[in-house]
Amino acid sequence: MSHRISLQPGNHSFEADDDQTVLEAALAAGLLLPHGCRDGACGACKGRVLEGEVEHGEHSPGALSEAERAEGLALFCCAKPLGDVMVQARSVTRAGDIQVKKLPCRVQKLERLAEDVMRIELKLPASENFAFRAGQYIDILLADGQRRSFSIANAPHDARHLELHVRRIDGGRFTGHVFETMMEKEILRFEGPLGSFFLREDSARPIVLVAGGTGFAPIKGIVEHAIRLGLQRPITLYWGARRRDGLYLDALARAWEEVLPGLRYVPVLSDEAWAGRGGLVHQAVLEDFADLSAHEVYVCGAPAMVDAARASFHSERGLPEDAFFADAFTFAQPSAR
Ligand SMILES: Cc1cc2nc3c(=O)[nH]c(=O)nc-3n(C[C@H](O)[C@H](O)[C@H](O)COP(=O)(O)OP(=O)(O)OC[C@H]3O[C@@H](n4cnc5c(N)ncnc54)[C@H](O)[C@@H]3O)c2cc1C
Ligand code: FES
Repeated sequence: MSHRISLQPGNHSFEADDDQTVLEAALAAGLLLPHGCRDGACGACKGRVLEGEVEHGEHSPGALSEAERAEGLALFCCAKPLGDVMVQARSVTRAGDIQVKKLPCRVQKLERLAEDVMRIELKLPASENFAFRAGQYIDILLADGQRRSFSIANAPHDARHLELHVRRIDGGRFTGHVFETMMEKEILRFEGPLGSFFLREDSARPIVLVAGGTGFAPIKGIVEHAIRLGLQRPITLYWGARRRDGLYLDALARAWEEVLPGLRYVPVLSDEAWAGRGGLVHQAVLEDFADLSAHEVYVCGAPAMVDAARASFHSERGLPEDAFFADAFTFAQPSAR
């Protein structure tokens, strides 16, 4: 049986099959709602159920609390309509014509960028046309159906290969394999491109980019795309890490200032004294910008950093809801392991 979903803002309306989440049905109807992990972990897809009922599905309590559920909020990546519903997302745009595909790829090159960061270059099948937007991510599909998400670190004009920056997780199944046993020429499968974290090219707002650790990966894709476009919008790029070796492509980021005259790069270290900026990366943004109401902000990295940035940029600096884009690097839910 199918159910009708009415979606605000924009008065959209579409059908959802019984087993489809609100997000899946919206994407299938060509509508893009904010989302990240698609796994009930990051909270990016949170919205309001205005009429009707949904089954909330499995999600992390941190992404949606009991109190929020009681208030009528839901995570659209896990919520399935139980009848006709009316829902409200933070924003709704047309998804465009980029196709999500499941493809094989070959590990072309492995390069250690830091002790705990590996750059993987994936070569795509020559016969496939793989299109993506700067900043999106892919899911690596493991043999038993589990998935692991990684952001694309290169720009779309160079889509014959994909670059990933993989941070090693203690006890991590996939990232452990990457650092210990992965060999060049290994064949992987992936699904993508995924996510709503990508450069909005139709906007004229000045851009603030905030990366934490390997959150630099999609930001690199965005900056390389901006260079390719010759983007004139001012860009301030903050990259936060604990210590200096965490800024694993610092020289590259410094070189961007020469190539893109509107770009300013601010590296920030939290755990090492140095001549540059210290403290938490979102704090550095708060120190530099008294008002973000006319800006567009892209934040990527650890969930706690993304949450702190979202809350403080909105409440203390007037950043509009629809001008904040983020990917939080959550882990796959235990049920997906
Ligand atoms: C949209 C998106 C994009 C991402 N892009 C990147 C990227 O570009 N680069 C990158 O390095 N990472 C990225 N990540 C994070 C990455 O997906 C995970 O690090 C990866 O899935 C870990 O896989 P694993 O198999 O090694 O670890 P798993 O085997 O899944 O987990 C390892 C261990 O960590 C534990 N764990 C679970 N949650 C946490 C937590 N929050 N903190 C600490 N430990 C935890 C688990 O219980 C388990 O014991 C992204 C995540 C998302 C959602
Ligand atoms: S919680 Fe729904 S996209 Fe992350």
